[in-house]
Amino acid sequence: MNSSPITARAHTNIALIKYWGKKDMDLIIPQNSSLSLTLDHFYTDTTVKFDKTLPRDVFTLNGHLVENPKVNHFMDLVRKLAGIQIFAKIDSINHVPSAAGLASSASAFAALAAAASKAAGLDLSRKDLSRLARRGSGSASRSIYGGFVEWCQGTDDQTSYAVPVEEKLDWPIGMLVGIVNSGQKKISSRVGMQTVVETSPYYQGWIQSTTADLKSIKKAIQERDFQKVGEITESNALKMHALNLSAQPHFNYFEPMSLAIMQEVERIREEEHIPCYYTLDAGPNVKILCLQADASAIQQILASKFGQITFEFAKPGEGVRFIEA
Ligand code: ADP
Ligand code: DP6
Ligand code: CO
Repeated sequence: MNSSPITARAHTNIALIKYWGKKDMDLIIPQNSSLSLTLDHFYTDTTVKFDKTLPRDVFTLNGHLVENPKVNHFMDLVRKLAGIQIFAKIDSINHVPSAAGLASSASAFAALAAAASKAAGLDLSRKDLSRLARRGSGSASRSIYGGFVEWCQGTDDQTSYAVPVEEKLDWPIGMLVGIVNSGQKKISSRVGMQTVVETSPYYQGWIQSTTADLKSIKKAIQERDFQKVGEITESNALKMHALNLSAQPHFNYFEPMSLAIMQEVERIREEEHIPCYYTLDAGPNVKILCLQADASAIQQILASKFGQITFEFAKPGEGVRFIEA
């Protein structure tokens, strides 16, 4: 079988309640449930074509041929699911910096799950797409949906998948994303979180408090309590980064500029009385949750203080879909 090329687009998502640790590393079953906002501005387009003349999978990222074991492993899972043994040409374009803590693995594996499964002749439900995307990268399970999304941790392959919390958001919020450094992180999310699970003395405390944060933020979202949503988001991110500081060997993803922006966000909130809250993932880039109406005022203040950094505004985005190549 030679399939026709299938292209899927998936957007990145930024967790307000973080996933930071696995119970099962092969199946990617997380230690806790998480909740994210899908962003329109950052996304991945991936095209897959199965071709019986290929001796192996051929993967290009942004036009360059690269060897990527995670992609090969993922394609093996798709072949198993579809009952085929043909290799594929996979071409992916990231409209997001790769491996910089801006969730490229989330948009990447959500797009690949959709494109590869369809090209392999499967017609998966969104629940099954989420389960499949999860096997590539945990955060990718959430990029199947738009808006606010919860990844319910579950206990096994069948029960660990994301569900939409509010897919078409009628709430004018978004994130200002400050690109402090778009280079590749030194410690991947996968290695970072595993080090924490194995060595942080605070890990049980994290699980307890993040479970409480998830419950509170869902209520705050329902009540449209922006201040509450922001406070929980900021505090949950700082707890995740505190785990990294408490691991052995300890590590962190901050750069001096990340800390300067975090302090400035706190100042804008306290002195300028504009509600805004930061979150950081496994990288130095700072995302600032704010109301759409305040975005340009915050952007101006930040530009005046940190001229060398670009801040891009991202609105809530949609879930994964097929597009014309
Ligand atoms: P990020 O913060 O960008 O999600 P991670 O450490 O979680 O960083 O994941 C980065 C990994 O995701 C890369 O090393 C690569 O294996 C994979 N990845 C990124 N973009 C793509 C893509 N478009 N297609 C397939 N895999 C990708
Ligand atoms: C800090 O999903 O990238 O962004 O499952 O090992 O691929 P793997 O890790 P990944 O981890 C994301 C971690 C985070 C928090 C989050 O997105 O929930
Ligand atoms: Co990632």
